[in-house]
Amino acid sequence: MTLQQLPDDRLKFAYWVPNVSGGLVVSKIPQRTEWNLNYNVKLAQIAEQAGFDYALSQIRFIGSYGAEYQHESTTFSTALLLGTERIKVIAAILPGPWHPAVTAKLGATADQISNGRWAVNVVSGWFAGEYHALGLPWLEHNERYRRSREFIQILKGIWTEDHFTFKGNYYSVNEFNLRPKPLQLPHPEIFQGGNSRAAKENAGNVSDWYFMNGNTPEGHKAQIDEVNEIANGAGRRGKVRFGVNAFIIARETEKEAQRELEAIIEHADAEAVNAFGEAVKQAGQASPERHGMWENSTFRDLVQYNDGFRTNLIGTPEQIAERIFHLKTLGVNLVLGGFLHFQEEIRFFGERVLPLLRELERAKPLPERLAV
Ligand SMILES: Cc1cc2nc3c(=O)[nH]c(=O)nc-3n(C[C@H](O)[C@H](O)[C@H](O)COP(=O)(O)O)c2cc1C
Repeated sequence: MTLQQLPDDRLKFAYWVPNVSGGLVVSKIPQRTEWNLNYNVKLAQIAEQAGFDYALSQIRFIGSYGAEYQHESTTFSTALLLGTERIKVIAAILPGPWHPAVTAKLGATADQISNGRWAVNVVSGWFAGEYHALGLPWLEHNERYRRSREFIQILKGIWTEDHFTFKGNYYSVNEFNLRPKPLQLPHPEIFQGGNSRAAKENAGNVSDWYFMNGNTPEGHKAQIDEVNEIANGAGRRGKVRFGVNAFIIARETEKEAQRELEAIIEHADAEAVNAFGEAVKQAGQASPERHGMWENSTFRDLVQYNDGFRTNLIGTPEQIAERIFHLKTLGVNLVLGGFLHFQEEIRFFGERVLPLLRELERAKPLPERLAV
């Protein structure tokens, strides 16, 4: 089965794996979310039961603005795969510490032992302090993305070709003959995100999926259009799929949902949020066009460190289902959710929001494939 022959065009759902401490908001509000393995295996089981398709792990080597403790993403992802049956787990890696051939090998094994449920998120990164701690060079913005592009080209080459050779500026592999290859054909899915032009160029040219931070519907539409234009120019029409981040607060009434949002913000760890705001100037703002993720994020936005409040999936199940459906009409293929109390809220989402969305999808089918 190739990517273009996915069984249906239903919107897909992913959740952020809380494999770092502190949950998904930089706030001191009490959260019934834990970062240990037991909590996470149970969460992954709840999520697959609730109808989620993917779990996305985070890669973080050192504490950063609230994530004081972190479990390494590839190890943790494999553990989640072994505790589940259907859900795919997207392991996040950084092209600096990881070598693409090592990642290809690791991914092939994880894919084999999970019956074809492994995927990868190639993170170009914004956190200079992490590279310094590891004693690795911190490349300038667009160079990080050039390295990521080589990384993805090599992953694909090793996964799909025998005796693969590549001579790049950052990596070389010589006649590498991976055995066994991954189970998934043509290869495990490759995700990648960022708002800068370089991130979009990589998405259009080499990625299977483009992840976006939270944004308004118009903002997401503009990003989708730009990446599709790049993909068309690269002979990859219709090959890139789109995922959006959202911090989801579904409550019985809109008032309750809004009150929860305000409480999260009132309890924000202001010092950590401000320090994070400074650190992420290493992201798109450091690109030549000075355009990228977090460029106009307010203090409120940064309390969810991937701008998740901006997507506005905050309200009643009906409101949220309608807004998600609207995203689908704009070309979104996947919603990536963060939650305050992960286990119980993912269950609630599966019971109350997803059926409404599936109903909308049935009632208003989209054209065969959205024009791109
Ligand atoms: C959905 C999503 C997941 C991400 N996961 C991570 C992560 O686990 N670790 C990390 O350091 N950066 C992560 N990033 C950050 C990106 O790799 C990138 O550094 C950031 O989007 C800045 O992009 P820009 O420079 O193109 O604006 C993630 C971004 C998105 C959109």
